[in-house]
Amino acid sequence: MNHDYTWDQRYQKGKDALPWDTGEPAPELIEFFEQIDSPPPYVLEIGCGSGTNAIWMAGNKSSVVATDISPAAIAMAKEKCKSRDLQVEFLVSDIMEATPVPAGSVNFVFDRGVYHVMAKEHRRKFIDRVAEALSDDGYWLCLAGNADQIRKPGVEGPPQLTASDLIDPTQQQFELYRLERSTFELPTLGSHLAWKALFRKRNKS
Ligand SMILES: C[S@@+](CC[C@H](N)C(=O)[O-])C[C@H]1O[C@@H](n2cnc3c(N)ncnc32)[C@H](O)[C@@H]1O
Repeated sequence: MNHDYTWDQRYQKGKDALPWDTGEPAPELIEFFEQIDSPPPYVLEIGCGSGTNAIWMAGNKSSVVATDISPAAIAMAKEKCKSRDLQVEFLVSDIMEATPVPAGSVNFVFDRGVYHVMAKEHRRKFIDRVAEALSDDGYWLCLAGNADQIRKPGVEGPPQLTASDLIDPTQQQFELYRLERSTFELPTLGSHLAWKALFRKRNKS
């Protein structure tokens, strides 16, 4: 496996090297669970980092497979939920290399800040993997940095995507179900404009 040691080194360094890691479940994810009739039975989280969101979903009645390219991140996530009896499986997996669950086996894919770190030339492959994992009509909630916020030079923050960066490559396989502004409230980097994009897989049959 082609581990990206930049990510893994950051997780090895610990909390100070992980400005995106709030330690709290994402408000957009909580809101999604509140808006649907019942929790999605089977979930894939891509790039789960230290596992906070995956553990939250498993605590809210979903059966979760959560993956990250970084073995150190997955070790942190496993440690966090070790004495808890939850339906969550943490796996080291590079989304560029393989779809980490059987085709069509999950109803919901979650990514916070993962699609937005993919190089432009890798985005379609990421989308293919999400589409492959999802059942027909399954949903993908993607939280990404938003390029509509003009960032002053030298200010650090998440990668920023335009609406077309986010949506155009998805069109063949996904309907855009909802697109809203949100914010990433990051402990050391402050508040950054984000996208909250909910996609629904196109039903091909
Ligand atoms: C900005 S962090 C967000 C982490 C987590 N989602 C969160 O909100 O705390 C991006 C994450 O994507 C993971 N990642 C980067 N490239 C990946 C890949 N090709 N496959 C799986 N995970 C990847 C990184 O290791 C990192 O945990």
